[in-house]
Amino acid sequence: MTHAPIAAPWWETAAVYQIYPRSFADSNGDGIGDLRGIIDRLDHVADLGADAIWISPIYRSPMADFGYDISDHLDIDPIFGTLADADDLIASAHAHGLRVIFDIILGHTSDEHPWFIAAAEGRDSPFREFYTWRDGPTPGSPVGGPPNNWTAGFPAGAPAWTWHAPASQWYLHSHLPQQPDLDWSNPDVRRAQLDVLRFWLDRGVDGVRLDSIARIGKDPELRDNIPGQPDRHQNWPVVHEYLREVRAVLDSYPDRMAVGEVWLFEQDLIAPYLMADQLQLTHNFVFARLPFDPAAIGTAVADFEKLADDRVWPAWFLNNHDEPRIATRWNTATDDEALREARLRLAAVLILTLRGTPFLYQGEELGLADTNLAAGVGSDANARDPQRTPMPWKPPSLAGPGAGFTTGEPWLPVGADATTRNVDTQNRSGDSTLAFYRKLLRLRRSRQSLLTGHQSLINSPEGVLAFVRSTNSEHSLIALNFTAEMQTLHLPAPTHALSTASHLLSNHAQLAQPPMSTVSTLELRPWESVVADLTHG
Ligand code: GLC
Ligand code: CA
Repeated sequence: MTHAPIAAPWWETAAVYQIYPRSFADSNGDGIGDLRGIIDRLDHVADLGADAIWISPIYRSPMADFGYDISDHLDIDPIFGTLADADDLIASAHAHGLRVIFDIILGHTSDEHPWFIAAAEGRDSPFREFYTWRDGPTPGSPVGGPPNNWTAGFPAGAPAWTWHAPASQWYLHSHLPQQPDLDWSNPDVRRAQLDVLRFWLDRGVDGVRLDSIARIGKDPELRDNIPGQPDRHQNWPVVHEYLREVRAVLDSYPDRMAVGEVWLFEQDLIAPYLMADQLQLTHNFVFARLPFDPAAIGTAVADFEKLADDRVWPAWFLNNHDEPRIATRWNTATDDEALREARLRLAAVLILTLRGTPFLYQGEELGLADTNLAAGVGSDANARDPQRTPMPWKPPSLAGPGAGFTTGEPWLPVGADATTRNVDTQNRSGDSTLAFYRKLLRLRRSRQSLLTGHQSLINSPEGVLAFVRSTNSEHSLIALNFTAEMQTLHLPAPTHALSTASHLLSNHAQLAQPPMSTVSTLELRPWESVVADLTHG
């Protein structure tokens, strides 16, 4: 069997750590995280063993969507800091050995962006065509409703059109009404937005995360969506032409990467975005919607491997600022602490050993759960506050309700699990969730097979997911027991010789140094997840 050459671009071997800046670290006591706060906490990210940070938007914004509604792409919102802070952050991350990925929103702006303000002035505005304006069935009047049946993401199912009385037309938005869509069929829009990209690449960012990117390609005729037919409001084939233009800009700089948020839930729809002339990575939402079930997870992985060829590199994530945290979603309320911890560690091993680029979300390394917020607390239009509560750095018993995130009053309350699930407390224990992530990330870095190796799923008993990552000279076995029973895994022996497996890492502390399995089976304890060195004897 031949394997891909070892040299791989940085984004294929990197573990990426997502920072939600509002909730990461507050340096000035106003209760809201900021860039200086991030700079002060880069040690944590580097010690964890991440290789890159993705920072959710920090640009000027009225914050209707907490920064995903941009009123000036070329400046930092004062709540987060200044352009000089952004430069410091980039430099400081680089000094920590971390690459920097900025979140760039090509497809829409805030309704307070000067382009939209100008466009809204009337049909003769030179910026009118930056956005999509149309009459409904009754020109000049909202009577009869919007021009077509497209719906917006927020709130889910609401019309994607808002009536603009002063200009007497409807305008199109894929998300909130405060986030009008830019019209990418207009070359002036493409030019202006590619300049935004250049602006940040010139300042030294190593990569960009392209928000909601499938939405830049829409049916130019704006025809109604028809159930059962391809969505005309996004993912229209022209999106690939636009992405080639984006890629040409990236490729005019050395070693820059784009990861697309292709918000499509069937894996075969995201593969076309990963062609050599388009995106290097896309977020794959498949795990965000799967239950804690090895068969479903195994099928999803196998399906993607089938779609992927050597040029297509997977990327995986379990949670982010939009999706519930894995500690909540892959646990049930009745789980005791030990079971909960075992499931968390199993998820950690999965995401950090699969072939592909892993994306971790701040707090995942502490095993944080979603925060139960009292009615009326939280202000996100789409109810995503529970996964966005502040990062706990210290026990609240010592640091107060800000938990080391802020000396002031946090913009959202810190979760109740901060008493034990905070950075300082977990730093002091060799057996904490944080310590486990660190070990795992170190192991990942130290094993070429886990970084770039070929992957094959192996036949396993029901309730077990197991796979092998291989280079020519190294084989790593990953075995995950999703059950409360002992399980016996038969090791693959391609040469018909016996295989042996020696544990490199297990969530069962008592199994940290077990005797090497001497026959071609591996015993898995209840809820055990193992990474082992596999030797074909
Ligand atoms: C993406 C972001 C999300 C945002 C939306 C609109 O899905 O991840 O947070 O609300 O785009 O920009
Ligand atoms: Ca602050």
